[in-house]
Amino acid sequence: MCGIFAYLNYLTPKTRREVLEYLVTGLKRLEYRGYDSAGVAVDSDDGKGITLVKQTGKVKILEDAIKEFMTGHDIDTPISTHCGISHTRWATHGVPSDLNSHPQRSDEENSFVVVHNGIITNYKDVKKFLEKRGYRFESETDTEIIAKLVHHLYLQHPNYSFRELVEQVIQQMEGAFALAFKSKHFPGECVATRRGSPLLVGIKTKTRLATDHIPILYGKDEDNKEKDSATDPEHRPHGAGREVPMIPRTESTSEFQPLEDKEVEYFFASDASAVIEHTNRVIYLEDDDVAAVKDGALSIHRLKKSLDDKHAREIITLKMEIQEIMKGSYEYFMQKEIFEQPESVINTMRGRVNLVNNTVTLGGIKEYIPEIKRCRRLMLIGCGTSYHSAVATRQLLEELTELPVMVELASDFLDRNTPIFRDDVCFFISQSGETADTLMALRYCKQRGALIVGITNTVGSSICRESHCGVHINAGPEIGVASTKAYTSQFISLVMFGLVMSEDRISLQTRRQEILEGLKNLDSQIKEVLKLDLQVLEIAKDLFQQKSLLIMGRGYNFATCMEGALKVKELTYMHCEGIMAGELKHGPLALVDDMMPIVMIVMRDCVYNKTINAIQQVKARGGQPIVICEENDKETMQFAHKVLEVPKTVDCLQGVLTVIPMQLLSYHIAVLRGCNVDCPRNLAKSVTVE
Ligand code: G6P
Repeated sequence: MCGIFAYLNYLTPKTRREVLEYLVTGLKRLEYRGYDSAGVAVDSDDGKGITLVKQTGKVKILEDAIKEFMTGHDIDTPISTHCGISHTRWATHGVPSDLNSHPQRSDEENSFVVVHNGIITNYKDVKKFLEKRGYRFESETDTEIIAKLVHHLYLQHPNYSFRELVEQVIQQMEGAFALAFKSKHFPGECVATRRGSPLLVGIKTKTRLATDHIPILYGKDEDNKEKDSATDPEHRPHGAGREVPMIPRTESTSEFQPLEDKEVEYFFASDASAVIEHTNRVIYLEDDDVAAVKDGALSIHRLKKSLDDKHAREIITLKMEIQEIMKGSYEYFMQKEIFEQPESVINTMRGRVNLVNNTVTLGGIKEYIPEIKRCRRLMLIGCGTSYHSAVATRQLLEELTELPVMVELASDFLDRNTPIFRDDVCFFISQSGETADTLMALRYCKQRGALIVGITNTVGSSICRESHCGVHINAGPEIGVASTKAYTSQFISLVMFGLVMSEDRISLQTRRQEILEGLKNLDSQIKEVLKLDLQVLEIAKDLFQQKSLLIMGRGYNFATCMEGALKVKELTYMHCEGIMAGELKHGPLALVDDMMPIVMIVMRDCVYNKTINAIQQVKARGGQPIVICEENDKETMQFAHKVLEVPKTVDCLQGVLTVIPMQLLSYHIAVLRGCNVDCPRNLAKSVTVE
């Protein structure tokens, strides 16, 4: 969803042309998140005001508008210290339009401008408050109130620092946000903060920093409230029917802890892919952190101490490489990510699966295994593809843990107010680690005392941080909106968890051994499956003009049907359903005739005979199934109109191999239909709103 990118150079001269190029490139790196308009704010020609350029549509359109702006303006004079902010917007309040796109501004002078990810739920109350004080709103966004409120507070409290003003503002905000502010009254400064939406700060210095930690500065003790003009009721917005007290001011700016480097550049971004080409040194901000850069010094403030505060934010070194977020020789990120799977599955297992002594170690949950073994049940919770990885591994986890395993869609789980107990272990599976429904479900379970295990691909994400323990799937950055390599890595992570849980079960050793053997060969078998690419393309050519597609299977391969159908829907906008073959007679059979395109997954596992029954029923109604089966399975092939053969692996891992032809099929159909493969319409990579 929305993306924030801000760049501040301190004593490192940059022309505005360079700054604008940085901002546009930053936005391009965030494009994959999904958006419908974009904008930037930089200093105006005389350095005394702020210039905004905003456009509906792709970043390319914004880039063209910026080029147009450049002619006739002096943008080639180096500026020693400057702050620029930019944004990609995914419309929630108000249609995609130039006016609704961000940065949003406080007034016609652009005194304060802000970019925002998330949703402010009490914006109507604040808007009313500001309207009463003469503010006129120009957009339909919830964000505009933020720019106007900071301006209002600035007029009331001209002696406040920029950071203090922002602290006052966020006290009035309900909902979720990540924000970056710029102001003509505070040139060369940037203030950024978050609550519920991700935000990180990248730091680039010429020499290595003397510290790996930025200490947190806290607000004054609540009991020691000083009387401040900010408590004047005249100056405070009203929440729905209740007054929201203004907070006392926090420590003075003399508390700033400058980094020990004079020349420094800062990057504020929604995710690491936007900063990695500049620096790999980043700080992930926590909820309610207010990060401020003034006179080149970064400081992080919090209003109140909480019990689990760490007193400092660590500067971590990202392991990500710039190549990982570039397309290389591939046409699309999704195509690249499908073809990366032989390596990504190895990266998921690296350092964890020991094939010499048949052990599996998951460092992130090791200490919790005894507690997990004592639990009442396992709950696997996620959305979209992540949910499907839970469906794919449920049967194996039931077998290896001998515990009841519930698989839940996060949104439905919350709708039902599902009972959760202290002795439940709840897994939250999420590529991004930021999906709002999954995060809400996590908090719901945490409040009820369950043990929280995060399975994510994004180090530093909210789900990561809020879990008690977890597994990083290490699939590498996934840019295509439709998830591919994250699915196979989530799948393998859950299989590894099952193997850890069954390590000392004598009766399960033969089973564990065959799974470990299967894992060992998985990368080379994935390479074999990827060789089907041209064959899949031919099938796609037959299918791409169809209206509908049914994908049938059962047992270990039912998840492939659901995941395959999701890929086809997301990418091609074609109707597609994943059907449990066991349910065929209970309805879906009515859809079958000689015109209906059908894919069937028929593997030689314990449901083989039942799946053959299903295929016969389909054939009896004139159906012409495209069959995904095991290599050289001649007996099964006789039922097939067309066939895709995949190598055989152990039954519980077969889904890793059967899903790949479906990923390729959806990709090729999307290309043939002229769809935007990496950014399908109406969808976002990271869904940070409920
Ligand atoms: C969005 C994406 C899907 C993804 C789902 C869950 O809907 O378009 O591809 O599966 O979110 O995302 P997560 O990051 O939690 O795995």
